Formats: sequence, structure tokens, C-alpha cells
Amino acid sequence: NEVRVFAPATVANMICGFDILGFAVDFPGDEVKMYRVEEPGVRIRSIEGDEGRLPLDADRNTVSACVKMLLEALGIQEQIGVEIELIKHMPIGSGLGSSSASTVAGLFAINNLLGDPLTKEELMPFCVEGERLACGHGHADNVAPALMGGITLIRGYNPLDVIKLPVPTELYAGIVFPKVDVPTRDARQLIKEKVLLKDAVTQWGNIAGLIAGLYDSDYDLIGRSMHDVLIEPTRAILIPEFYEMKQLALEEGALSFGISGSGPSVVAIARGKDIAEKAATRIQQHLTACDIESFKYVSAV
Ligand code: HSE
Repeated sequence: NEVRVFAPATVANMICGFDILGFAVDFPGDEVKMYRVEEPGVRIRSIEGDEGRLPLDADRNTVSACVKMLLEALGIQEQIGVEIELIKHMPIGSGLGSSSASTVAGLFAINNLLGDPLTKEELMPFCVEGERLACGHGHADNVAPALMGGITLIRGYNPLDVIKLPVPTELYAGIVFPKVDVPTRDARQLIKEKVLLKDAVTQWGNIAGLIAGLYDSDYDLIGRSMHDVLIEPTRAILIPEFYEMKQLALEEGALSFGISGSGPSVVAIARGKDIAEKAATRIQQHLTACDIESFKYVSAV
């Protein structure tokens, strides 16, 4: 009557696909331990690794709030009692889908404790609601890959239509998190609501090229396509040394470089683990020289 679930960090947007593309990494991620108890209701027992930033109040904590939402939807909130331990292995506000990983782990855990009444597809809308609670907007490009694994496309939001995409075997991500706080809420307020048609044409060309590249394992096409002309120019100003980091990653042979989700983490996409590792190391060395603390994660896409 207890489960332990790990849900991975995710790189939303995949550089060119704002709010529609994302992939999961191997590590870091968050862990939820959930226990069935006699007394009905949802309670948080403990939270580790959040530097005291997350609420223990079950109504205000996103994980417990989502668990409650699911129990209510199933009409069993009066009968079921659970207690939650949340262990965060990744920083909050990092652009690595920290809140999504916790939410997905929590919802997967409760579903599992109940004997899996819902499929992953059916769990997805609850995960999106969790994202809305966490940052004020229900985008699915972190929760979808955290729940489904691999690379996912949100073909549409209304109704939600999630497509799993093929993952070329040599595709790696070198991720660096410069330790500055960029809340998704703020990073979303900054971006312009209107885009120029010529920029839209460039962007959808890139998205289509990336998808074709993924299906054909065409690394050159993937690299050519992973550019963002809509969001990056605005958000880059929130990230210290962004363009210097980009240059270093490309010098090390990365296929592409950009912002992970809403930042401040950045991601170098590479063919092969060695190049991803080298790009991330070089970026980290640069940040250290600039007196900016950072963390690095290298993972298969
Ligand atoms: N697509 C979202 C954004 C992801 O860029 O705001 C947030 O992690």
C-alpha cells in the first residue's frame, strides 16, 4: 500500500516548438512516495530538496492539489486517504520542468495506488491542470514528455492531442543550469503576443524540418531546424551570457543550442554523448569564469 515514483526533468519547446514540443531526460527528476492511510484526505508528510520553498499545506501544494483533483473526479475523495513524501532532485524555476515532474509523479502514484483506473492519456488533462496551478498557464510540453517519455508533440490543445515522436539513437542533450531564478510565469509575461508572418513562416519551416529530421534520424536536418526566431530573442535577455554560451556550444560541435523551456537552463543538442558533454563542460567553465554558479546534466534525448 505504498508506491515510489520517479518522473524525469524535461526540456520543453525543443528550441523551435514553443508550447508544442518537449523531451524527457534520464536525470535529474523528482520522486514521490505515496502511502495509503486509514484517515481520508490528502496530506503532505515531508518535502526534501526544495530549500524550504514549497508549501506543505495540501491545498496549496501542486502535487497534493492534483491528487485531490483526481480523487474528486473519480468521486472517491471521501473514502481514500493518502500521505505524500516529495523528494526533489532538481532545482525549482530552472526551466527543466521541475513542477511538472512532481505533478506527474504524484498523479502517476495515486493512479497506481488505486489500481490504475486511468490510462496515461486519461491522466494527461490532470497533469496539465497541475501545470496551470503551478505557473498560471496550462501548457503540456513538460508534462507530456514527463509522463510518456521520449519526445512528444502537442498537436493540439483543444482537445488535447499528444503524439509520441521517434527518438534518433545518437541524439544527446548537454544541459547547463546557471543558478539564477527565472519563474515561468515571468518568462511568459515577457513574450510578445503577436508575431510577424515572415517569422511564423521561418518557425513552422523549422518545426516541420525538425519533425522530418527525427523520423529520418537526419542529424544535419535536425541541427538546421532547431532555431527559434520567435521567443529566444526576448527571453535570452533573462539569461546571463546566453550568446557567449551559444557560440561555445556550436564551437564544440553541437547541432544546436537554445533555452530549455522558459529558462534559465540552456541546452546543447548534439550527435553523440561526447559532444554534448564537451559543450556542457565548456559552457560551465565559461560561467565559472564569470562567477556564475551552474549545474550540468548530460543525457540521451
Ligand atoms: N512552453 C513553456 C514556455 C515551457 O516556454 O513557457 C515552460 O517550461
